[in-house]
Amino acid sequence: MRAERESDFNPFLKGNFAPWRMEGDGADLEVDGEIPSDLAGTYYRNGPNPAYEPLGRYHWFDGDGMIHSIRIEDGRAFYRNRYVHSDGLSEEQTAGRALFPGLLSLSATEAPRFKNTANTNIVFHGGKLLALVESSLPTELAPCTLDTIGVYDFAGRLVGPMTAHPKIDPVTGDMHFFGYSPFPPYLQYHRADASGTLVVSRAIDAPWPSMIHDFAITAGHVIFLVCPIVFSFENLSQGKPLFSWEPERGTRIGAMPMGGGEAAVRWLETDACFVFHPMNAYEDGHEIVLDVARYEQLLFMSPKASRDPDWRGKNVARLHRWRIDLAKGVVRGDALDDGDGEFPRVDERRVGRKARFGYIAATGPEGNDTLHPVFTAIRKYDLERGTFETRAFGRGNGAGEPLFVPRRADAAEDDGYVIALVYDQARNASDFLILDARDLCGEPIATVHLPHRVPYGFHGNWVPAA
Ligand SMILES: [Fe+2]
Repeated sequence: MRAERESDFNPFLKGNFAPWRMEGDGADLEVDGEIPSDLAGTYYRNGPNPAYEPLGRYHWFDGDGMIHSIRIEDGRAFYRNRYVHSDGLSEEQTAGRALFPGLLSLSATEAPRFKNTANTNIVFHGGKLLALVESSLPTELAPCTLDTIGVYDFAGRLVGPMTAHPKIDPVTGDMHFFGYSPFPPYLQYHRADASGTLVVSRAIDAPWPSMIHDFAITAGHVIFLVCPIVFSFENLSQGKPLFSWEPERGTRIGAMPMGGGEAAVRWLETDACFVFHPMNAYEDGHEIVLDVARYEQLLFMSPKASRDPDWRGKNVARLHRWRIDLAKGVVRGDALDDGDGEFPRVDERRVGRKARFGYIAATGPEGNDTLHPVFTAIRKYDLERGTFETRAFGRGNGAGEPLFVPRRADAAEDDGYVIALVYDQARNASDFLILDARDLCGEPIATVHLPHRVPYGFHGNWVPAA
């Protein structure tokens, strides 16, 4: 009889959350429908994919990054997947087993061995393809082969971690980002110019040390979100999770004028909540409009989190609009949807500007009775009209983050494609879906059948062919 293993019961190591451990290539994939001739480029998707049976409790955020790429060229599709070959993963490959503890196994008494998993997002900026995880420096990959080039620190200029959610200003081409830390300074802002040179690094006076997953920009401001999830080494020393939920603190929204100094960050208060991902933000007179996927609370570090049947109901996000009145110093909040969803996106050409349309991975009409964040639908919002439409895939067929790809660089905001990875439970494999953005619920333009399943993961981006 063998000892019980984490993968025997942890929902994030089962079904389509289970890792896919083979690296491979698939040429000229089978397609239903027809890939549009004007679609040319590569979709890159990152996600956690533990290479070895975890040492202790496994958290979904722990796994080694694996990049899945789908290259579209002349109406044909090519697949490739590779691990981010971090130094930590190389050590483990030499040992033939896991060597690093996960988030739920950190100890206050032992200095944790730490791995840069680069498992959360993958972005292309300044000619570099960067795999990102918020605890660490970026990892540079080769865009065609997905070979790991190594840790990237902007020619020695970036000291400290980089968020997995940088924002590329569609007008200037600048990449804005930040890093957070449990130690002062808790928050640092950075900006790389369009060529990828790091030109600004600045400490931000954050109200408390918090997990800050994402942020937003407008044409004139950088917006930081500090939620009441607080780094607590005291808790850790008592055997509790590293992050504690302290709703009495409320939530702080920081608005920093672009080009402004540290003192210019203005912190406004709103109700306690948690936000992993804003959808977008823009300036509207003296107000900033900020749409986010908002959680009432976040218990993601609770040891019971992944096994408590009540967990799903407590940990769902809904699209929510904040109007931040900088003249009056107040924040007004309104729900935009009473259904839940995550991974909100807009047309990248509208980042920081008013966008009419937004996209989200949503819970399907059948609901979600699992303990997993499985989203079996894609929802498209018309934020101007206040309406949405939903394309559902059926129970068990989870969709990933939907992306909008314009038909041409100068196409109208809604003129293009919505692309997403969708798991087909019956085939136990994934499809790459290409939908008409103006006909979300109609027949797909093309369904690319991938050679195997792509585990549910985090974020991706489309890089147009050069
Ligand atoms: Fe994220």
